[in-house]
Order: sequence, then structure tokens, then C-alpha cells
Amino acid sequence: MKHVDYALEGNVAVLAFANPPVNSLGFALRRDLVEGLERAIADPAAKAIVLIGAKGTFSAGADIKEFVTGEIARAPSLWHMITAIEMSPKPVVAAIEGLALGGGLELALACHFRVAHKDAKVGLPEVKLGLLPGAGGTQRLPRIIGVEGALNVMLGGTPLPIALFAKSPLFDRVADADLRAAAVAFASEAAAKGELPLIRNIRIREPNIEALCQFARNTARTAFAKYPAPLAIVECVYAAATKKFDDGMAEEAKQFRALVEGPESAALRHIFFGERAANRIADVPDDTPLRDIRSVAVIGGGMMGTGIAICCLNAGLPTHLLEVSQDALDRGVARVRENYEGQVKKGKMKPDKAAERVALLKPTLSYDDIGGDDIVIEAVFEDMGVKEQVFRKLDQVMKPGAILATNTSMLDINHIAAFTRRPADVIGTHFFSPAQVMKLLEVVRGAKTAKDVLATTMKLAKALKKTAVVSGVCDGFIGNRMIEQYSRQAMFLLEEGASVQQVDAAVEKFGFMMGPFRMSDLAGNDIGAHIRKRRYVETPSVIYSKVADKLCDLGRFGQKTSAGWYDYKPGDRTAYPSSVVDELVAAHRASIGVKTRKIDDREIVDRLVYALVNEGAAILEEGIAQRASDIDMVYLMGYGFPIYRGGPMLYADTVGLYAVVQRMRQFAANPHGDPAAWKPSPLLARLAAAGGTFNANTGGAA
Ligand code: 3HC
Repeated sequence: MKHVDYALEGNVAVLAFANPPVNSLGFALRRDLVEGLERAIADPAAKAIVLIGAKGTFSAGADIKEFVTGEIARAPSLWHMITAIEMSPKPVVAAIEGLALGGGLELALACHFRVAHKDAKVGLPEVKLGLLPGAGGTQRLPRIIGVEGALNVMLGGTPLPIALFAKSPLFDRVADADLRAAAVAFASEAAAKGELPLIRNIRIREPNIEALCQFARNTARTAFAKYPAPLAIVECVYAAATKKFDDGMAEEAKQFRALVEGPESAALRHIFFGERAANRIADVPDDTPLRDIRSVAVIGGGMMGTGIAICCLNAGLPTHLLEVSQDALDRGVARVRENYEGQVKKGKMKPDKAAERVALLKPTLSYDDIGGDDIVIEAVFEDMGVKEQVFRKLDQVMKPGAILATNTSMLDINHIAAFTRRPADVIGTHFFSPAQVMKLLEVVRGAKTAKDVLATTMKLAKALKKTAVVSGVCDGFIGNRMIEQYSRQAMFLLEEGASVQQVDAAVEKFGFMMGPFRMSDLAGNDIGAHIRKRRYVETPSVIYSKVADKLCDLGRFGQKTSAGWYDYKPGDRTAYPSSVVDELVAAHRASIGVKTRKIDDREIVDRLVYALVNEGAAILEEGIAQRASDIDMVYLMGYGFPIYRGGPMLYADTVGLYAVVQRMRQFAANPHGDPAAWKPSPLLARLAAAGGTFNANTGGAA
């Protein structure tokens, strides 16, 4: 029994299981636990049994990887194990410390008794993976804590302190200190009493069951419209309250199977592993020594700089904010203060906490003040000349070993690094606006960036509560390089006959937070125009529609000028259709002599999304991204790609790469726009021909 340590303490058999790091209930652990249980039942010296997780954690539940490999059903399954516990002629006591989540808590619910350490947390987080508690949780939890409480636990999915359950009989005893000793003592007493209570035998008496479940159904349908799991949970709880236990279990099994096989859960599991995989860098070992980050300097007090400073303040880091003029500095400081005042006003932060954070802000006009900081993050204007001035200065003033980071969203990091005598210390940290809100951080690794600089920046990203994805150096890095292809298609569609509103509506119906035109109005249409101007010179063979340039010629830069692809009213972010834009687009079509046609929404979505996929494949093949799931994380966390579709690369896998390439061939036959854009990148072509996928599977990104 490799995963279970069997010990007899007095007349109690203690089965301590270990499957680091979180005691997930994979096949090997299940096999050993059942074997241990059988041994204890057969052992005449053992009168009761304690199940306890080794190393301070009970269990984080089923092994999520097994949903893809199919091992989840391999006997003894979780369900076999739970039956074995319920059938035990000797009392089985779950001793819970650390976490008991998902299948871990369900295992405990099947035991005759539960003893918990006072600091333990429990929860049923399956809903966050697009699942429901499928090992009896939907049937047992409402029986022991009531329908309303159980719905809250299962629909919320967060781990909860055990104190919250003090009024229910969920825990038979709470231990202040030595959990193992407390559980053994309790088990011995239970053996003496000879009772074998099981939660399955409790009858739910809930007079308001119909109203409660109807309310929960309505909430599930509105708040989680795209996700089937919440509604399925409600139906299972309803069954728990209205049917016999075994019939409720059958309902749970049916609903669970449907969810496991559905695309939403596959997407959410992909994200679970993808977020964690993004932290791993092939040639940077986990034990790479890190540099100490105790203080930060941010250069530039604009929107971006102040957003980055707020992230650092929230992480408790003393932060210098450097600007070139007192006016600009005052505006930056005011922006930081307003952010915290807003948090306090909304009740999201206590005033003393906000004051504590603001006190960590050190505004300055002098580079001399920041030389001792451990990392400096530059967020000045996107112009190589301006970056040069800043980095030459930083090279002079920063202490040896300080990390020099640039927030550029498109400029060549290697070029920037070459302005210093220490290119190994230079790295890109591309935040997304508003930096204090958006989860994504693209960490750009220059040709000479040192491994410890990269590892330290990844660790800092975690402290800043960001999902960090490593990108190599290329124009636009992962996210913006891909979005350019998407935007190009949006403009061609406009020329061919789609309207601004139709394109946005089609993409938003697919699930994007915002269509390309609304997004461009938010970001500023002048930014795209600025980039295109450079492209016209650097890559003259690439075809661009000129319609967006014409829009900018009218000064319609988007929300900031109250006019862009849409009209805006002061103080109102609603996008109103614009007759000026309609006329502009019509005149543009006439000027290029295009014959317009009716375009369906499916073509709009396929063209925009497959443009992302094809560029993503090129990025993957060039090694700019380490793995397909990294690209998906960029799009999910930074570009509003629908979460329940798991990112562009997983979506393409789901559609099937062969079908994606077939569709691209149809688009290539359209002479308008840039047919060359539809040449499948070599990786996509190879995978499509071989029946492969970008992501090896959806259970655990490589
Ligand atoms: N299955 C497989 N691997 C798991 C896992 C699980 N249930 N839970 C965590 N892991 C892995 C992670 O992938 C990670 O692996 P890596 O080091 O190779 O990247 C490692 O364990 C450590 O996890 P974290 O990095 O997330 O560590 P934290 O300390 O930050 O968080 C945690 C620990 C709170 C347990 C968090 O990992 C978590 O929320 N896990 C998922 C819990 C969950 O959803 N349980 C329900 C599973 S589904 C189920 O039980 C179905 C049943 O009802 C039938």
C-alpha cells in the first residue's frame, strides 16, 4: 500500500493516505485506501477506523486529469470506495485538516462520523470546473446541512471555514490541536457505542422545497446562462429532497455524466491546468534562485503606470511613482487615490486598508530616489526614442541586480535591452488596461533575459494576482500579434457588406465580451492607426483595409472623443449606431469598387476566430508561445474570449483542425481582402492532416 500508511492506535486503525501535493483521489490512492479499509475490517484488534490525509491536507477531491484519461471510472472508483465505507461494520471517522474539497468532502460525507481541525476548510468546488459533486455530494450535503445551505455551498464553490457549519451536525467534533489524537479518541468512543449512522438515511424535511428550488433555478438560468452545471446541481438537490436516496444518486450520476462530456467543463478544466502550466518554463527549473523584490518603481503616471502602481500597492509593496513634471505626477497620484476612494465607497475595501495602501505610494520627480528599488517597471509613451532615454537613465541609476521591466505592448525588447549595459536584467511586463483589473500579464523574455530575472518576474506576477504567460519577442507578442489578424478580417468584412453592428453582434453572440469595433473604440482607434502606419512601411506586402484610417482622419478615435465606430454621449459608454460611420463605410466601398453581399453571422465568427487560430499556430511553431494553452490563457484573461469555449486553440481543437482548414480554404477562394491570410500555417496544416490537436488533451496542459 504505497499511498496509505496503516497503523493501529489502541483499538483504532488509522489509515493515513498520501498522494502529494493535494491528496487527489486518483486510482492508486483509491486502490490502496480500499485495501486498507478491508484490512482494518478484517483486523480483530481494530474496532473503528480513522481516515486521515497525511501532510496536513485531507483531499482536494477527484484527480481532475482522470476525467480525460478515463481512469476516473477505473475500479475501485470513487463510488466503489464510498460504498465500501458505508458498508463497513466498524465505524469509519473522517479526520479533516487543511482542505476537504469535492470528492474529498464527499468521501467524508459517506463516513459515519467527521472530526475536523478548527482551521480546516471544506467545499464542493466542482461547479468551477463545470461539474457537479458527483460522488453523492448533491444527495448527502442537503441531508446534513439543509437544502438552502447545500445549494449555497455547491453553487458558490468556494472553500469555507468549518466554523460556518457550527450550527449543523456536519462535524461531530472539532479539534483545537492534535487532530489525529482527537479523531482516534472519538473513534474509540464511537466503537464503544456501536452506532453506525449514515447520512443517506436522513430524510430531508423542507417545506419550502418548491419555492427554494424554483428561485435557485431562476438564478442559475440568468446568472450562469452559458453554464449547465448550476442548473444541474439544483435539479439534483431537488431530487435529494423529493426522491429516495438511491433514485437521487441515479439522477446525480446522469447529470454528472452529461456535464463531464460537455464542452463547458472541458473548457474550464483546460483553464484550471492551463493557468498552472503557464507558470512552468521549459528551461527554467523550479528551484532557480530568485531575486528579492521588496520595493518597486513605476515610471510614468498615466493610466497604465498608475494601474501598475495600484497592483504593486495591493500586493503590499512600497512603490515609487516617477513622472517628469509636478502636474503629471499630481494627476497620477490623484488617480491612485481616486481608485482607493472608489473601492471604499463601493464597500469593497475598509478605509484603514485603503489608507495603508496609499501610504506605500512614494511619488517622485527624481531618478535618484528610485535607484535602490528591486524592480522598475517603465510605462511611458510607446516610442523607441522615449524608451531609449528612460532605459539609458535607468542603467545609470538602478542598483546592480535590479530588474528593468518595460510595459511596452509592441516594441522590440531586445532593442530596448541594448540601451543598457545589462540586457540580462531587462524583461517585458505587458499589462492590460485597466492594469489593476485585468488578470493577464504577458511576460516577454528577451534574447538575453536571465533565467532568474524571468523566474522572479513570474513570482512577482503571482503576488500581483496576475495570470502570467511567457512570450518570446515578436511584433505584438502573443496577444496583439493575433488580434491584428482578427481586426484585419473585421475591416474586410465591413468592406464586403457587413455592418459595424452586425460584426460586433455576431462576435458577442459567440461569447466575446465585446466585438472588434466596440473594443477598438474602447482602446482608442488612433492606436491601431499608429501601428498600421509603421506596418505600411515595414511590411508593405500585407494588405490592410483603409477604412479605419479614414475613420481616424475624422478624429473619431473612440470613446475618448465621444465618436468612433459608434457615437457616444457624455458620461455614457453605450455605443450608438452612427450615420456618419455608415456614410463613411458606404463611400469607402464605392471608392474601392467592391460589390457588397449579404454576409451571415457564421462567416463573421469563423473568419475572425480562425484568423486568431492560424496566427496562434504560427506563434506556437515559432516558439513565441511555449504551449497552446498559454495562447488560450492570453485570450481568455486579456481579450474577452468566451471562458466556456476555453480559448481559440481549444475551440479549434473542439471544432476539429481538419474542419478549420477546410473552412479556411473556402475563405481563401474569396478574392476580396487578403486571400494569402488563409494559407494554413505549417503547424496547423500538419496537425489537420494528421488528425492532431493543439492541446494534447483537455485534462492537463503539457
Ligand atoms: N486533481 C488533480 N490535480 C490537482 C487537483 C485535483 N483535484 N488539485 C490540485 N491539483 C494539482 C495542481 O494541478 C497543481 O499541480 P502542478 O503543481 O503540477 O501545477 C498542484 O496540484 C498544486 O495545486 P495548486 O497550484 O492549485 O496549489 P494551491 O495550493 O494554490 O491550491 C487547491 C490548492 C486549493 C487544492 C487547488 O489546487 C484547487 O482548487 N484544486 C481543485 C479542487 C477541486 O476542484 N476539486 C474537485 C475535483 S472534481 C471532483 O472531486 C469530482 C467529484 O465530485 C466526483
